[in-house]
Amino acid sequence: MATTIIKLFITLYFTFSFSSTLAVNSSSTTNLDSSLSSIRNFCRSTPYPDACFDSLKLSISINISPNILNYLLQTLDTALSEAGKLTNAFSDGGKANDIVEKQRGTMQDCKELHEITLSSLKKSVSRIKSGDSKQLPDARSYLSAALTNKNTCLEGLDSASGSFKPVLVNSLGNIYKHVSNSLSMIPKSERRRDEYDPSEVITVAADGTGNFSTINDAISFAPNNSDDRVIIYVKGGVYEENVEIPSYKTNIVLLGDGNDATFITGNRSVVDGWTTFRSATLAVSGEGFLARDITIENTAGPAKHQAVALRVNADFAALYKCSINGYQDTLYAHSFRQFYRECDISGTIDYIFGNAVVIFQACNIITRMPMARQFTVITAQSRDTPDENTGISIQNCSILATDELPSGWTKWSKDEGLDTLYYGEYGNYGPGSETENRVDWTGYHVMEIEDAYNFTLSELITGEAWLDSTGFPYDAGI
Ligand SMILES: *[C@@H]1O[C@H](CO)[C@@H](O)[C@H](O)[C@H]1NC(C)=O
Ligand SMILES: *[C@@H]1O[C@H](CO)[C@@H](O)[C@H](O)[C@H]1NC(C)=O
Ligand SMILES: *[C@@H]1O[C@H](CO)[C@@H](O)[C@H](O)[C@H]1NC(C)=O
Ligand SMILES: *[C@@H]1O[C@H](CO)[C@@H](O)[C@H](O)[C@H]1NC(C)=O
Ligand SMILES: *[C@@H]1O[C@H](CO)[C@@H](O)[C@H](O)[C@H]1NC(C)=O
Ligand SMILES: *[C@@H]1O[C@H](CO)[C@@H](O)[C@H](O)[C@H]1NC(C)=O
Repeated sequence: MATTIIKLFITLYFTFSFSSTLAVNSSSTTNLDSSLSSIRNFCRSTPYPDACFDSLKLSISINISPNILNYLLQTLDTALSEAGKLTNAFSDGGKANDIVEKQRGTMQDCKELHEITLSSLKKSVSRIKSGDSKQLPDARSYLSAALTNKNTCLEGLDSASGSFKPVLVNSLGNIYKHVSNSLSMIPKSERRRDEYDPSEVITVAADGTGNFSTINDAISFAPNNSDDRVIIYVKGGVYEENVEIPSYKTNIVLLGDGNDATFITGNRSVVDGWTTFRSATLAVSGEGFLARDITIENTAGPAKHQAVALRVNADFAALYKCSINGYQDTLYAHSFRQFYRECDISGTIDYIFGNAVVIFQACNIITRMPMARQFTVITAQSRDTPDENTGISIQNCSILATDELPSGWTKWSKDEGLDTLYYGEYGNYGPGSETENRVDWTGYHVMEIEDAYNFTLSELITGEAWLDSTGFPYDAGI
């Protein structure tokens, strides 16, 4: 897996240069005749060859290098300038009012759709100018939408009358010939956008340089119920979204650029009306979820009470080198088998909670300052019956806190659960690891190695069976 990831990253930075591969028969621009005939040839493959030729022959005089992209841009430019004329006609109230509508809204539809078409044409130009092949499908969508606009307008006009009608129909015809031609010139990508090749990485980039600019869009694009890992590379940036990975999005892998570079951030909270469960910035129900080098945070603040950064209710979920930051209820390890390696987890109250069977290895667990009159609690495990195999096992981690915070243990509610809970310590070292002054609850134990063994990765979550293939490091035993 590790090598796979490295290989995949290399392909991510491969930028596509299509002007060279897609150059059309580029005859010398010094020879006018051969240039014209080359354009004529090229235009033969478009739906409106004459309109194409009329538009492109101008490119010779302005000495544009003859390749498909330049022809495409030139054609779009013509479409835009034709569309501009229609805008004037629309705004010239006299002419447009000449239309006698049979169906109410005909002209309103045409004007509104025309505005949308203008914006689609402009967006297509900018996508194509980006020189980035993965933006071509966008351009294709915009131009397809524009053609739909024309048809909708014409449908309304069909029953209308008035002297402006033929002018308008004619003008629409002119504009959209160039739109159709442009659409036919967009280089076809080999694969349709909605077909997914599992060996391919889906890239999310907040700055628009990836396949998607939000993580949610990438998740919804990902195949349902995949048996293969679906790798989503989330480029450095701040993603302000509540990301949901539903149960039918299995084997999703989120790879960031580092927990100091890729941030998923949200601020839902119980005080603002969400359930604790639904407040999560990243909510994972899909089995086989993996994440690496990402920060997930809930910035609601301590005054908003329960406000989850990460909720995981997915089996075989593992996170490596991630930061999970919040205040109350930061990490909701809700259910199933979970593994966190070399992660930073910060919060104030109950900031690791839930009823999963979960192991933390080599993590920093960092208690932050709560509000005045609040106290801090690191774990709040919520097993209901002794038959469950759930629990929180913290191994080789640093438990840290700011200097102002007092140490100690706190009961959940009166003496509830003090006999049935199980807190065990084994082999801790460093400041605060002395066990002499611990609580005297029946459920508190300093463990022998035989007891500690029950909480190893091997025993508790049968980790080897599902973590080997992830490439994440782990320690199976004590
Ligand atoms: C390309 O140009 C050459 C020479 O000008 C010509 O022989 C050939 O037929 C052209 N090809 C196409 C596809 O137009
Ligand atoms: C994502 O972008 C890359 C690079 O442009 C491209 O090769 C790939 O086909 C795109 N994937 C999807 C799913 O659109
Ligand atoms: C995936 O499943 C969801 C929920 O059933 C459904 O809405 C969506 O259309 C499915 N996507 C695909 C690509 O089948
Ligand atoms: C909460 O998040 C929303 C959406 O990300 C954002 O628009 C809003 O500004 C945030 N509020 C605060 C107080 O940060
Ligand atoms: C303990 O954690 C440190 C990092 O905090 C890591 O380098 C080391 O490999 C871990 N050892 C074990 C046995 O997990
Ligand atoms: C560990 O497992 C053994 C064998 O099942 C059991 O006897 C012992 O009580 C367990 N210890 C703890 C602390 O769970």
